[in-house]
Amino acid sequence: MRASFALAAAASFLSATTEGLVLQQKHHGPGPKVVAMDIERRQTTNPLHRDRLRKRATVEAALDNEETLYFINATIGTPPRSVRLHIDTGSSDLWVNTPSSKLCLQTSSPCGFAGTYTANSSSTYEYIGSYFNISYVDGSGASGDYVSDTVTIGQTKLDRLQFGVGYSSTNSQGILGIGYPINEVQVGRAGLQPYDNLPAQMVTDGLISSKAYSLWLNDLDASRGNILFGGVDTEKYEGTLQTLPIQTSSGVFAEFMITMTNVKLGDKTISQNDLALAVLLDTGSSLTYLPNDMVETIYQQVGAQYDSDQGAAYVPCSLAQETTTISFTFSQPTIAVEMNELVLDLITSSGKRPTFQNGVTACLFGIAPAGSGTNVLGDTFLRSAYVVYDMDNNEISIAQTKFNTTASNVVEITTGPDAVPDATAVANPVAATQGLSGPPGGSAIVGLGGPDSAAAPATSVRGGGVVALFTSGLVTAAILSGFLL
Ligand SMILES: *[C@@H]1O[C@H](CO)[C@@H](O)[C@H](O)[C@H]1NC(C)=O
Ligand SMILES: *[C@@H]1O[C@H](CO)[C@@H](O)[C@H](O)[C@H]1NC(C)=O
Ligand SMILES: *[C@@H]1O[C@H](CO)[C@@H](O)[C@H](O)[C@H]1NC(C)=O
Ligand SMILES: *[C@@H]1O[C@H](CO)[C@@H](O)[C@H](O)[C@H]1NC(C)=O
Repeated sequence: MRASFALAAAASFLSATTEGLVLQQKHHGPGPKVVAMDIERRQTTNPLHRDRLRKRATVEAALDNEETLYFINATIGTPPRSVRLHIDTGSSDLWVNTPSSKLCLQTSSPCGFAGTYTANSSSTYEYIGSYFNISYVDGSGASGDYVSDTVTIGQTKLDRLQFGVGYSSTNSQGILGIGYPINEVQVGRAGLQPYDNLPAQMVTDGLISSKAYSLWLNDLDASRGNILFGGVDTEKYEGTLQTLPIQTSSGVFAEFMITMTNVKLGDKTISQNDLALAVLLDTGSSLTYLPNDMVETIYQQVGAQYDSDQGAAYVPCSLAQETTTISFTFSQPTIAVEMNELVLDLITSSGKRPTFQNGVTACLFGIAPAGSGTNVLGDTFLRSAYVVYDMDNNEISIAQTKFNTTASNVVEITTGPDAVPDATAVANPVAATQGLSGPPGGSAIVGLGGPDSAAAPATSVRGGGVVALFTSGLVTAAILSGFLL
């Protein structure tokens, strides 16, 4: 259920083109750029870091920024099969597609890109139970078996990791949910105890010391970021990390919620004075979702045109050249997001870029109204922040990111209250008084509450010919696949 939003609009302000749109990086870079960055990263891998990997204190994996979503390469089973997994801090289960599902059997081979897993073809497969069933706020999901098998990520091999197999699925790519175990569907749906999901199993296996990881998504124009399980790269952010408590939902630490206390556009404060708003840090969401009144002010200031059908707004692509920033404060640390990080290219399936009726090229704006749903800091915010997710201490450490840096200094996250290196606790952090969701685990719907919970600003995903695009958080897929220009 979505609250109505005051800006009147319809898709009619865009000129007619075609049915399918793909969200693109701003400058549709040539392939070699991706490869070059990858090679460069390997060249700059420093020996200290290598040593640490050998000691297995941290586990590093590269991330792909594929059409603004973040993927990790993994292999599953024996012999190993390659899969690409969408990395998602907003959910807690890993699952993969299987070739025999109705979805994967379609003639267009929708699962081919991300890869599949066949349980009976793996000599290390073990069956756990048939109660795997995950649904995301966009209405998509997968169901089938929980199994365990060998999973390799980066240089790291995990034996008998529990994950789901989507014998029935509406997502063409598997998901690597790395949130709190209590948010697993095994807990919410089957009423069972949490199992060790990937970060937890890494700790159990002694690969890392703390159930904690750092995400550096990097610039919108960059193709690569990285995730460090059990470590922090002190060269990837400005200054030092500042540490904030995670906010509970009904007394339980279940999601990566922190308190946002101020939002500014340029020098102008656009939030109310006493803001103490719980916001979810969710890499599974391409866009950022904020309260309607704030979003309306931002739209007016930047000249965004809201499309109520899509729940998102369009701006002239030239807005990316503006030097204004939107800054977000969390008690003390402030993260500045430059305008060019908030202007997302769109191309249609025919390769054309949509235009407004006056011929000006239209881009998607990176902030949308949350309506009655959870407020979410998605990828359009997260790229500008270096974020450490510490599930052992129930804390988030955050700093302004350094884009494109090739320097690296990986330091282990040890154990105990001060485990995150180079981090200082914020004095008197504000507790959230707004935007907190209900108790977790009551619903089998992960992330932001289900279609039943009125927590979802998402529209349902309509079919229609699109697109290697999926978000488990908030539905860029829905925005674009239903988009009739
Ligand atoms: C993942 O694998 C694909 C296919 O081999 C490759 O093109 C891509 O660069 C890899 N990405 C990462 C992040 O390693
Ligand atoms: C695997 O093979 C066994 C034995 O043939 C069969 O009973 C089982 O249903 C198969 N499992 C899957 C997931 O296909
Ligand atoms: C999975 O959950 C959904 C939503 O609650 C339900 O409609 C569906 O029937 C379930 N699927 C299976 C296989 O249990
Ligand atoms: C980062 O690198 C990308 C790709 O080379 C480039 O397009 C972008 O402008 C760079 N960003 C910054 C902030 O330097």
